[in-house]
Amino acid sequence: MYGGGNSFEAMKATALTDEDPIKLAEFEARIDRGEKIEPSDWMPQLYRKQLTRMIEQHAHSEIIGALPEGTWITRAPGFKRKLALMAKVQDEVGHAQLLYSAAETLGKPREEMITDLINGKSKYSNIFNYPAFTWADSCFISWLVDAGAIVNQIANSKGSYGPYCRALERICAEESFHLKYGHHCVIHLATGTKVQREMMQEAFNRWWTPMMHFFGPSDKISVHSEILMRWKVKMSSNDECRQQFLDMYVPKIWELGLTLPDENLRKDPETGEWQFTEPDWEEFKRVINGDGPCNKERLAVRRVAEERGAWVRQALLAPKAKYVAPLA
Ligand code: COA
Repeated sequence: MYGGGNSFEAMKATALTDEDPIKLAEFEARIDRGEKIEPSDWMPQLYRKQLTRMIEQHAHSEIIGALPEGTWITRAPGFKRKLALMAKVQDEVGHAQLLYSAAETLGKPREEMITDLINGKSKYSNIFNYPAFTWADSCFISWLVDAGAIVNQIANSKGSYGPYCRALERICAEESFHLKYGHHCVIHLATGTKVQREMMQEAFNRWWTPMMHFFGPSDKISVHSEILMRWKVKMSSNDECRQQFLDMYVPKIWELGLTLPDENLRKDPETGEWQFTEPDWEEFKRVINGDGPCNKERLAVRRVAEERGAWVRQALLAPKAKYVAPLA
């Protein structure tokens, strides 16, 4: 299962009929007028629940996403690359911070979100469950995973929930630096020695399927898109984001003399739509449900971080400690 499927449809129908119809109509009219919904405003329970799910998953993706690139900080080639990658990884963790804060405005405490992550109850992006074997893998993530994230986030930053949109605006500004950094790294390898070019090509071969999965299942089977788009939480569908990404980046990849591991990938001159071989959606389901190449490792790292950081959180939340004067 991707998500709720038919049970979600049944839950949605009940959830909407349980709401006060006048309040629901006023809420939807506000959304249609393009107004922002703020935390203290009335909102249907389903809007709250869906937003919490989506923002929380997004926040988890940022802290888990810091892990595959984080392992490359000490091994990045040269001081400048190390500095830039360290700054990028720090930014990603900062994005998680912004997103957890936005999700908290909907009522779910951060501790509970982290517990749900490390217990495997909450999802996070499929793509961070793959290993970054080589430096080229790290370059692929910095350029193209961030590019994919920007496509999705720029659209959603125009959405209906104020705190999420404001967080996304700031995140997109920072991501645009990541994108330039990643593009520069890929150009360097793609125009470098034979070994460097091969290493970059192998990374493209490894990451292309997870990248196609990244935008979510096709609109025909997406569980949540319909209600999320009706309420302007998602401003572009999964397929629209995937198409936009292909349109913007495939020509840039081909320009560098790199190839993509899909012989059916081409833009239909009549419709302007990209055609491609459907990626293996069984693999996607396995990965998002906890059985990808690195799921266990990623969650284990988060669990250790949670345990090691417990004393810091306790100290911050403890009642003011008695001031002890330093010895003269
Ligand atoms: N990785 C992991 N899970 C994914 C996924 C992905 N790339 N794409 C979809 N899913 C999951 C959904 O979370 C959902 O599972 P759930 O019901 O258990 O929560 C299920 O697959 C069905 O997908 P769909 O109905 O299409 O979900 P959606 O409408 O929430 O769309 C996103 C999925 C990722 C496009 C959407 O949640 C989104 O735009 N999120 C914000 C951006 C984000 O999280 N980016 C992550 C990386 S920076």
